[in-house]
Amino acid sequence: MTRTLPDATAFIRANLRPGPAPMLPEITLYQAHPGSGLSRLAGVPYWAYVWAGGAALARHFLQNPGTVRGLRVLDLGAGSGVVGIAAAQAGAAQVICAETDPFARAAIALNAALNSVQIEVMAADVTALPPLDVDLIAAGDVFYSADLAAHMTAYLGSCHAAGVSILVGDPGRAFLPRHCLQPMAEYPVRDFGEAAGGPPGQARVFAFALPETKFCNAMRLS
Ligand SMILES: C[S@@+](CC[C@H](N)C(=O)[O-])C[C@H]1O[C@@H](n2cnc3c(N)ncnc32)[C@H](O)[C@@H]1O
Repeated sequence: MTRTLPDATAFIRANLRPGPAPMLPEITLYQAHPGSGLSRLAGVPYWAYVWAGGAALARHFLQNPGTVRGLRVLDLGAGSGVVGIAAAQAGAAQVICAETDPFARAAIALNAALNSVQIEVMAADVTALPPLDVDLIAAGDVFYSADLAAHMTAYLGSCHAAGVSILVGDPGRAFLPRHCLQPMAEYPVRDFGEAAGGPPGQARVFAFALPETKFCNAMRLS
């Protein structure tokens, strides 16, 4: 049976509620609640939640605006756009949010408007293109499966080789390419599914580099 997808913007406006992001009260996002009916949608609605890696990057930018001020920033795998919104709030000169999920792209546009920040939303799969002309790529929680981790590692490796700085936010998921990452900072964050009343978990911000090119080449070929 073919499912007819609802209009993404209308669906989000009708079924999600704007509110402060978990542990990021500076940022307002459309968020899911038990009545949102996300099971009506095809695919996993990553965009309806803030993930630990993105939360750590957003906290990093808000606490250290000098890391993004005046820079052209690509938020790769933007989901709700939380990382890009934090970068814009911290003074980035330009923010591009790249997302392959059309519902995420609608959510990013709505969330940018909620926070009164300017964000360009990119529909093309940026990982299939040559490195964009940006200063910094911020990749929040994009290593959550083996295939995606290998793909993102190869793409980020090519961007690093082209001279782009890269920050990764991640709570330590299994497929994280640790050999390419240098820890920079750690933040208490609440991951998707963690109860608001319990203690928060931790997630790190890493600098991505290619200290062991052979490792990253192996990831590319695997
Ligand atoms: C776990 S979510 C993280 C979202 C957000 N960065 C955060 O931390 O809250 C990962 C996102 O990466 C997106 N994604 C996967 N492959 C992608 C690609 N090739 N280009 C852009 N986005 C991609 C998925 O659609 C998903 O929304």
